[in-house]
Amino acid sequence: MGKKVYIETYGCQMNVNDTEVIFSILLGNGYERTEDIAEADVIMANTCSVRDNAEQRIWGRIQQFNSFRRSHPGLIVGIVGCMAERLKDKLLDSHRVDLVAGPDSYRSLPELLSRITPTSPQINVLLSHEETYGDINPVRIDKNGVSAFVSIMRGCNNVCSYCVVPYTRGAERSRDPRTILAETRDLLEKGYKEVTLLGQNVDSYYWKDPEVGEVTFASLLEKVALLSPTLRVRFSTSHPKDISDEVIYTMGRYDNICKNIHFPLQSGSDRMLQKMRRRYTRDWYLERVAKIRSVMPGCAITTDIIAGFCSETEEDHRDTLDVMRKVRYDYAYMFQYSERPGTLAALKYPDDVPPEVKGRRLEEIIALQNELSARSNRSDVGKVFEVLIEGPSRRDSSQLCGRASNNKMCVFTDSVHTKGDYVKVRVDDCTSATLLCSLITDN
Ligand code: 5AD
Ligand code: SF4
Repeated sequence: MGKKVYIETYGCQMNVNDTEVIFSILLGNGYERTEDIAEADVIMANTCSVRDNAEQRIWGRIQQFNSFRRSHPGLIVGIVGCMAERLKDKLLDSHRVDLVAGPDSYRSLPELLSRITPTSPQINVLLSHEETYGDINPVRIDKNGVSAFVSIMRGCNNVCSYCVVPYTRGAERSRDPRTILAETRDLLEKGYKEVTLLGQNVDSYYWKDPEVGEVTFASLLEKVALLSPTLRVRFSTSHPKDISDEVIYTMGRYDNICKNIHFPLQSGSDRMLQKMRRRYTRDWYLERVAKIRSVMPGCAITTDIIAGFCSETEEDHRDTLDVMRKVRYDYAYMFQYSERPGTLAALKYPDDVPPEVKGRRLEEIIALQNELSARSNRSDVGKVFEVLIEGPSRRDSSQLCGRASNNKMCVFTDSVHTKGDYVKVRVDDCTSATLLCSLITDN
């Protein structure tokens, strides 16, 4: 019997997909997957470094993993992912872990695991310019079998001054489009109905070779959308400086490309944007939003915002609130700035906005977004949406739930259809997070 591996995943969708890659590699080498930590022979945390509180949570969890050693002699505890890459051998020195593996080292996991002894922990944190795990078919860890992530590129070449990702995930590289299409076809054959194409900056996807010619993100999106009209296509994340008209037009041309763009603003102040090295201005950003809305009037726009970046003033903060009001985001992920060691901002700019000011600004941002989200949901009341059913609603198992093209969660009563089916619903009412709908029957 193979050793049983349990993996706990933190951070972004990319990390979820990496966990699926890791399982694929380990299962191909005689390991088994378990979802029960108590029976695991190997416990791994696939970690995130994006903010300090993400790392703090993981430290606490490593201590808990170590406490399992008492009842399970020979247990292996590993840290993989961004925190492994950022902290490297410090993780081996300061905490008892047996394995430290960065995001580009997963092919070496079977070998690393086989070499571990109580006195010889193993580490591989080499970053690569080529690794895309292109040929690896991830083992899906989602439960519903309807929606899957497909990685199209790795790493990031933007050096946003607050961001640790270029250091933890290395340089940007695009994955061979043939492997992306093959993976998606395989998902379709297995009954999946939705893929989300993942990259830190999908707009800079680029591939060229004599056989397939030039492939940009817009043409890749089109190729994936053309695989089947019943396959929904989503993607994340777009960079406002890079999103092209072709991508926007391609989205507009295909009904099965979902009308939702995650479009991180970070700040609405030009001075902050420049310090963050985002390489766009608020006017540029607002023009891109206007373009998206002119081509796809119903397209949802969601965002990420950082409150209290270095030297942010009340005026800068008001600029952020102002852009939020202008764009009327459908949803936002909102954070206080957290200094990350080794980034440009940590080296050059003091983290000088007091915590209580950061906190208050974040609260104002959240309060405004709550209003905007409610307004966005109210404006959908009366509309008809096509929904891809994900399964029973979590709140009320007698109802079904699924997402509309704009990514909003719809719940409705339906005793005929099942997960993976497309249905039409009319929105009757809404809560802050959900659209309450009724099924439109065919006749
Ligand atoms: N502090 C706070 N938020 C950050 N993000 C990235 N780095 C930091 C940081 N140092 C946020 C950005 C990014 C999202 C994934 O996390 O908003 O878009
Ligand atoms: Fe994902 Fe960034 Fe966290 Fe790494 S640091 S897991 S890339 S969010």
